[in-house]
Amino acid sequence: MSGPQGEWAPAPEGSAGEVGGELVPWKEGTVGVQTIDLVKDYGSGPGAVRALAGLSVSAERNRFTAIMGPSGSGKSTLLHCMAGLDAPTSGRVLLGPTDLTQLPEKKLTKLRRDRIGFVFQSYALLPQLSVKQNITLPLEVAGRKVDGQWLKTVVEALDLGRVLKQRPTRLSGGQQQRVAMARALLPRPDVVFADEPTGALDATTAREMLQFLRTSVHELGQTIVMVTHDPLAAEHTDHVLLLHQGALAAQIANPTAPVVLEALTVLDRMPADGWMTGGYRAAAIGGGYPGGTGVYPAASAAASRLALPAGPSARPA
Ligand SMILES: Nc1ncnc2c1ncn2[C@@H]1O[C@H](COP(=O)(O)OP(=O)(O)OP(=O)(O)O)[C@@H](O)[C@H]1O
Ligand SMILES: [Mg+2]
Repeated sequence: MSGPQGEWAPAPEGSAGEVGGELVPWKEGTVGVQTIDLVKDYGSGPGAVRALAGLSVSAERNRFTAIMGPSGSGKSTLLHCMAGLDAPTSGRVLLGPTDLTQLPEKKLTKLRRDRIGFVFQSYALLPQLSVKQNITLPLEVAGRKVDGQWLKTVVEALDLGRVLKQRPTRLSGGQQQRVAMARALLPRPDVVFADEPTGALDATTAREMLQFLRTSVHELGQTIVMVTHDPLAAEHTDHVLLLHQGALAAQIANPTAPVVLEALTVLDRMPADGWMTGGYRAAAIGGGYPGGTGVYPAASAAASRLALPAGPSARPA
């Protein structure tokens, strides 16, 4: 890891040289996924919605990153753009040194298949296949071998052993969500992107899944980017990117649930054109929220995109 937490890791020198070129193997470095001035508009003309307003963020390799923010702040849009599932209106998305926004469709499809795992909010399981077939399908489509030991580990960790032969339609929402996570983890992709992967789980099952995800990041080198509304889920991650109206409002290193909750509460109270700034923002990052009421003056959208120095760890030693 280079540099303190919360600081942008710059794009590798010459990475733009990969534009439209061959897919390059994942290289050593701290940057997992990076967006640069990412804009996403839905529609055009007066009715257009700007879902991402020039967003520059990065999720580091071998780390567990959470994307949080109020409903409609652009979390899913960001995740879809980062994973190459949706094309931004402008700006760039780098997966390691590869610029996804410049790849021809065929190469992008191959990259998504070989290097990315995605857990959809709606699970997106195939009803005509068994649970096991659903989990192994991406590897089979890619013509890759299933690692039996890793399959066993994932299935046990997500408690799916008893339902492997069943059809997903027979399962509860929480079970389907765990199947979707197993399917994303099995190929050991460069990055697993997950959109609210604990939304349908009870507290105990959610905690077990999050602990497994954290282990797969810290002990097995997986990189995970997860959208969540839940401060308790965010506590399992290394870093939170907090969105507000398609821009970066704050980052929280080593998040704890109380700090995340406070930051979300402040965001909820913010005026439509306001930004989390100054003392509060620094406090939220450092974990030492001073409490009491405060005035949080609006800052420019550009200021919200600035790199934020990380404060001391908010996680109890
Ligand atoms: N396909 C679409 N067409 C038009 N507008 C869209 C579309 N998808 C998203 N939006 C709009 O873009 C903005 C960001 O949406 P997004 O789904 O990324 O938010 P979110 O933070 O994931 O919200 P939630 O927490 O409710 O899932 C919202 O204003 C939403 O209405
Ligand atoms: Mg969403």
